[in-house]
Order: sequence, then structure tokens, then C-alpha cells
Amino acid sequence: MRKYKIAVIKGDGIGPEIIDEAIKVLDAVSVKEGFELSYHEYLMGGAAYDVYGDPLPEETVEGAKNADAVLFGAIGGEKWDNLPREKRPETGLLKLREALGVFANLRPVTVYDELINASTLKPDVIKGVDLMVVRELIGGIYFGKPRALEKDKAYNTMIYTKDEIKRIAKVAFEIAKKRKNRVTSVDKANVLEVSQLWRETVEEVSKDYPDVKLEHMYVDNAAMQLIRDPKQFDVILTGNIFGDILSDEASMLSGSIGLLPSASIGEKYGLYEPIHGSAPDIAGQGIANPIATIASASMMLRYQFGEEKAADRIENAIKRVLKEGYRTKDISSFDAKEIVTTNEMGSLIAQYAAQD
Ligand code: IPM
Ligand code: MG
Repeated sequence: MRKYKIAVIKGDGIGPEIIDEAIKVLDAVSVKEGFELSYHEYLMGGAAYDVYGDPLPEETVEGAKNADAVLFGAIGGEKWDNLPREKRPETGLLKLREALGVFANLRPVTVYDELINASTLKPDVIKGVDLMVVRELIGGIYFGKPRALEKDKAYNTMIYTKDEIKRIAKVAFEIAKKRKNRVTSVDKANVLEVSQLWRETVEEVSKDYPDVKLEHMYVDNAAMQLIRDPKQFDVILTGNIFGDILSDEASMLSGSIGLLPSASIGEKYGLYEPIHGSAPDIAGQGIANPIATIASASMMLRYQFGEEKAADRIENAIKRVLKEGYRTKDISSFDAKEIVTTNEMGSLIAQYAAQD
């Protein structure tokens, strides 16, 4: 029997409710495909701060490292907004990403035909969009030193080494090879030295991928092109902060940020999480959309465990619920047949995913 150990971090806000649905779906497909999953829960973010006074207890890092993959919900909330940076929930997540060495953050953006009207953009602009943002996750301005907040001045440092750029570029080219053979590398090389090195290094790496077409784009232009004509993109390769911004922007092509999953991978570990935040304003009301988290669990099965069939089951089940008109509140104004709760959405997907 194939067995996988999953470290589960529910986090704050809607984190616990969306993770519960993902687990429900994972259980359903594991039974069907004949593998066994075990779950071990750890605290991170505000929930961890409240108990340990630390947003990332050592125990959580250990647990994550001892597992075959980490499934994570979301963190943060007003309650912890005034804490010093070191104690903030977000710092817990950033440190976990760093501790696991998950340098490549993959954020696929798919526009479901069934939700074509859910986007604020015109249907003909977004129909058929299928792109992947490959974001560098443990470097750049998020981690660069020196950094400081002083009384009358504050600064951060955007820094990338050649090796860091090379390894993320390779991931992007490898992914493009399995997709449409196109990489758009996004930078600000007209202004920033760090982007100049980024561009040169990506060019170098591209020599090993003669079949993949590479183009470079400035980040401001990329932000515009994503809205003007998103179909031009296949793989978008970019650094940490540009990727953070562009992936939120790209999520709106699909209609709701509640739909998009992500995988963060490195040499050894994998961390799977929805791209959205903890939405404390709607927590506990049963209206959060669990699809992004369920789709993240599916990425975990595919990328980390190689359980392709189980992953396909989940993806098809998501398409089917949307096709049949089941909608959580965030997407309820679009061709809804029935508005369902977080829990009902999870149960429907679990049920469909387990059917033959
Ligand atoms: C994301 C989030 C995080 C980030 C925050 C919560 C630290 O916005 O995963 O995109 O900026 O990376
Ligand atoms: Mg973000």
C-alpha cells in the first residue's frame, strides 16, 4: 500500500474550514485509488502566536520536514496586525517557505468555461486562458538584507544571486516544455541592476532549451498585457515580489481568487496552499470557497506523490460541480443553479471525485 504523510497547517480565518474540505476530498480519492494518507496537524500564523507567542514554532518546522508534503490553508488577521514584524503571522509563512527551501512557487491560472462570466473581463478576452506563473519564492526583496525600519527612513534590498535565478529559470523552462513551449520572463531591467542580471541569466539558461521560445517583458507592461490579452502567455517566470503582485492580478482572470491553487517546491519538500488569504471577515460563516485549497491538494497528489489518477479525479470533479451550477457565494452571481456552503461544496467534490 502506498502511504503518504501529510503535515496539515490550517492557519487562521477561513483556513480551518477550507482545509477540512480538502481533507474530505483527499480521503475520498485515496480510498478509490488505493493509497493511504495520514494527517498530522501543526500550528502556524496567528493561531501559533496565540499559543506559543511565535508564528512558526520549531515543532511545526520539524513536523513539516518529517512529512511527505505540507498542506496549508491561510494565515493572518486584524487581530495580529499590530505585532512587530517578527511575530506577525506572515513571518511564520515566509520562514516556513525558507526552512523548506521551496524556491519555486507554481500558480496555474485556468479559466473554467463554466465561469466565463464570473470574470470582470470580457468573455472573448479570457476564454481559453491557461497560464502558469512561476514565482521565485525564497529570495528577492522579501528576504534581502540589509533591511530596516528606522525612525525617519526604512529600506529593503532586492537581491538575487545568479544561482538563485538559474534554478528558478530551469523550473520555468521544464514546465514550459510540458505546456506550450513559451516562457515570458518578467523583470524591470530598464531600471534595476538585479533585473539586468535576471535577464542575462535567464538568457543563458534558455540556451539549454532550444525548443522553448523566450521573451522578456517589463513588469509594468506585463501587468497591462495580462488584462489586455492574457492568452498570449504560457509560462510567466518572475521574481518574488513581481510574482506576488502578478499572480493576484492573474487570479481575477478566473473570476475569483477563491479558485486558484499553488504548489511551492524545492529540492526536497513541497508546500501546497491556495493563493488567497485568510479572509477573516467571512471566517466561520460557511461561505468560503474551498476550491482553491482542494485544487492545491490535487497539485500535491500530482507533483509530490505522482498520484496522477487521483489528481485527475479531483480536477474533473471540480469542473463537474461548476458545470452543474453549484456555486459558493463568491461566484454565486454567475450561472448558479444552487448556492452551496463551504461544506456542501467539499462534499459534492468528494462525491464526484470518488465516482467511476
Ligand atoms: C502569497 C501571500 C504571501 C506572500 C503573504 C501572506 C506573506 O500574499 O502567498 O502570495 O506575499 O507571499
Ligand atoms: Mg500574495
